[in-house]
Amino acid sequence: MPFRLLLDCDPGLDDALALLLAHGDPDLELIGVTTVGGNVTLQNTTRNALRLREYLKFPKVPVSAGAAGPLTRQFRDAAHVHGAGGLGSVTLPEATLAVTGIHAVDFIIDTLRATPGAVHLVATGPLTNIALALEKEPAIARWAASFTIMGGSFTRGNATVAAEFNIWADPEAARIVFDADWQVTMIGLDLTLQAQANSIVVDRLSTLGALADDLIVPLATFYFNPNVPDWDGQAVHDVCAVAYVARPDLFETRPARVDIETTGEFTSGMTVVDFDAPSPNAMVATRLDVNGFWAYVETVYARVAAEHTG
Ligand code: RIB
Ligand code: CA
Repeated sequence: MPFRLLLDCDPGLDDALALLLAHGDPDLELIGVTTVGGNVTLQNTTRNALRLREYLKFPKVPVSAGAAGPLTRQFRDAAHVHGAGGLGSVTLPEATLAVTGIHAVDFIIDTLRATPGAVHLVATGPLTNIALALEKEPAIARWAASFTIMGGSFTRGNATVAAEFNIWADPEAARIVFDADWQVTMIGLDLTLQAQANSIVVDRLSTLGALADDLIVPLATFYFNPNVPDWDGQAVHDVCAVAYVARPDLFETRPARVDIETTGEFTSGMTVVDFDAPSPNAMVATRLDVNGFWAYVETVYARVAAEHTG
């Protein structure tokens, strides 16, 4: 029985690769995609999700658009990383199918309410939609089979020295999410920076044919700079969050109390992780079976690539 998965995302280079995994793994059933403003504008993240849906041929999966920006702060994107359109150098054919008429927040609530305990919720962008859904219907915290995010860090940030982008983009939303009545699995930078598409991985991906040439490799290498010392390849951050649902065996996690800094002059958006806390609210991923991860991901990608007709 596949794990049913609802992905809230901001495609985004690695979000797109996460969607490919969620679609391609027979042990996962992607039952919905919701979009949020983040890497690029909501208009572009939603356009990318719609285009990817048709290009990868999962037209029956509903796509619902959500929040354009954070709960209270100004919208700040990562277009300098993902490109103005959000998919780097990749241009996909225009979508012919539209979003559902339902707001992402209502889609999340309705989907989780319909089958309590059956749907795994994953978020790979700013947590605005998730926070709004919790505020509108706190019971989603009980209805979700599990809740996994790509976000945060117990060491370094990337948006700032202290904060990872998804949390930094909307710290108030992240605080609501981590304080809700569920256990968050936090796949943070400490884990995802172990999942770098280095030259050996890219060489193997490059053998997968047209899908690799036109999508996978350009997405996985867009901003990699080989001249930067000690940088082996682009991290496929969001792929790790989806991979955790299907293959938690590839991950080591530890219980921790995670609090979100929302007022620090230099630390706003920091995930303050206490592994010694008596009342943990999260499982924080610490270690990845890197070879096992790539073997899994490449097997799924090869499966989709073999059936891909462009
Ligand atoms: O910090 C990495 C995260 O920020 C990823 O989700 C990436 O897509 C960006 O949204
Ligand atoms: Ca993302």
